[in-house]
Amino acid sequence: MTFKEVLYSRRAVNFFDPDKDVPDLLLNKMIEMAAQAPSGFNIQPWSLIVLKEQADKLRLQQHAWNQQKVSDAPITLIVLADTEASKPGNPFLEKNFREMVNSGAMAEEQREWFDGVCESLYGASEARKVAFACKNTGFFAMSLMLAAKSLGLDTHPMDGFDIDAVREEFEIPANYWIPLLISVGYFKSDQTLTPPKWRKTIDEIIVRFD
Ligand SMILES: Cc1cc2nc3c(=O)[nH]c(=O)nc-3n(C[C@H](O)[C@H](O)[C@H](O)COP(=O)(O)O)c2cc1C
Repeated sequence: MTFKEVLYSRRAVNFFDPDKDVPDLLLNKMIEMAAQAPSGFNIQPWSLIVLKEQADKLRLQQHAWNQQKVSDAPITLIVLADTEASKPGNPFLEKNFREMVNSGAMAEEQREWFDGVCESLYGASEARKVAFACKNTGFFAMSLMLAAKSLGLDTHPMDGFDIDAVREEFEIPANYWIPLLISVGYFKSDQTLTPPKWRKTIDEIIVRFD
């Protein structure tokens, strides 16, 4: 599949074949591909909870507008965005700084500057923390869906769920936002996909305000 074909054939599919499993190897490949997504200072504030057990998917579904695809799909992902990812002391921020020093992208003496930039750019307020976590995790989530399509899988993103209830049900720590769920599997062959949805035109997308 060309990249253009991947872009144009990805759809939010409502019906998954519950009898068609996704092998771990394929899921891992999809995650590995999506992990190439860019992020501010390469902080990568994303994580995934992978639900495969029917009982777990049903626990999620009850807090997700009872959307059937959550449990029909062989896998449903809870996508997490760490609002504390840019906070000094976060293990991945530490790892990131070490990697930058090791690769020569940053000098050891720039530590204080790096922490200051992270704080002022990404951690200055609650809104900024959530924005940082969610915008970067959005790139990762989109990459997951495109990677899935390129591997012959179908997906469905969802934000129709009760974030507080999902947090409580799966004991998700307070530092994570939950921007969306993504069901992953194979489109059910006896169903018909709805026609492609409308999209904004270039003229509708490009704006300026001065
Ligand atoms: C962040 C996000 C949340 C969404 N939440 C839901 C949802 O909870 N339930 C649903 O049926 N569709 C949901 N959708 C699917 C959109 O309605 C769908 O992507 C859009 O209509 C475009 O259709 P397409 O993806 O097939 O091109 C969501 C999509 C995104 C990106």
